[in-house]
Amino acid sequence: MDSLLQDWPEPVVCVQSLSESGLSTIPDRYIKPPSDRPSLSITSKQNQHSIPVVDLRGLMDDVAGCRATIQAISAACREWGFFQVVNHGVSVELMERMRETWRSFFQLPIKVKQAYANLPKTYEGYGSRLGVEKGAILDWGDYYFLNLMPASARSRQMHWPAQPCSLREITNEYEREVAKLCQTLMKVLSISLGLDVDYLQNAFGGGGGAGECLRVNYYPKCPQPDLALGLSPHSDPGGLTVLLADHRVGGLQVRKGDAWVTVQPLPAALVINIGDQIQVLSNCMFKSVEHRVLTNPTNERISMAFFYNPRSDLPLAPAQELVTPERPSLYRPMTFDEYRMYIRKKGPRGKTQVESLKAQ
Ligand code: OGA
Ligand code: NI
Repeated sequence: MDSLLQDWPEPVVCVQSLSESGLSTIPDRYIKPPSDRPSLSITSKQNQHSIPVVDLRGLMDDVAGCRATIQAISAACREWGFFQVVNHGVSVELMERMRETWRSFFQLPIKVKQAYANLPKTYEGYGSRLGVEKGAILDWGDYYFLNLMPASARSRQMHWPAQPCSLREITNEYEREVAKLCQTLMKVLSISLGLDVDYLQNAFGGGGGAGECLRVNYYPKCPQPDLALGLSPHSDPGGLTVLLADHRVGGLQVRKGDAWVTVQPLPAALVINIGDQIQVLSNCMFKSVEHRVLTNPTNERISMAFFYNPRSDLPLAPAQELVTPERPSLYRPMTFDEYRMYIRKKGPRGKTQVESLKAQ
């Protein structure tokens, strides 16, 4: 293992403690350079556009209904890389319990949470930064990270919060339901790309092989939301992301051409986005899209990102079926273990990683 990832380069300050100290200006470490600030960077379009909403009940319909639903997802992947799903099979009541149990965790005293302080080597536990570059400008957010699957990589007991006592069971139940949704989406995406229905799942390591991780993001109130970001622009390194966002407090923005479009989640919806590994497997037919999170001066925000990833030791490359003389393979084979080292070292950096691979 890379020695750079043994520890953080500076003592980690939890953002919640800064926020709760009542300061009216934020420390310099969180102030973005002018061009990266939310108010000055490329135009923010509010509600002029929004990401597509797809009703997954259509997949149970007759052939025509099923086809139309697959078509809608395919168009969303090509045009946006992001969409919301409703009637997705994950119980809305379970989504609510998930929010509640994790909210209770983040309400625990900071000392209790710091017992789970994480390290850059695996990220498991409670943390406040991504990347190990000394002196980096930091994001205004804390998070909790867990590996859920495969069973061999599952975070050990010591990395799981002991309180609230229902957290573990609720998270496990949520994992089972969201994994089923991801398996369905993998089929839909395979068909949309003209591949065998099980192509993407097999490329991810088959039935029990895929990786699943959870990152619960906690964005405390920020007194200067025009200077900082809750999460800097990035694309997700893995396969698919299923986000359970707060429909009362917005913050997520998606890149659309030269604009940032605010996502307004419907109450029962889950937000889906394509990660870099699907961009690679699809030879860039589907693109992972940059997104970022704004901070909020009056409300804290919690979101839960479930990452569905390839098995970490399989080399991934564009599907042969999608490589032609006119469209040569854009990526060399690489394992996900190798790939995610970049974000683990450098932190969120837009789409620089997947773009730099293409240039080689
Ligand atoms: C992420 C992410 C968005 C959000 O965790 O990768 O993009 O709204 N989260 O918190
Ligand atoms: Ni993300």
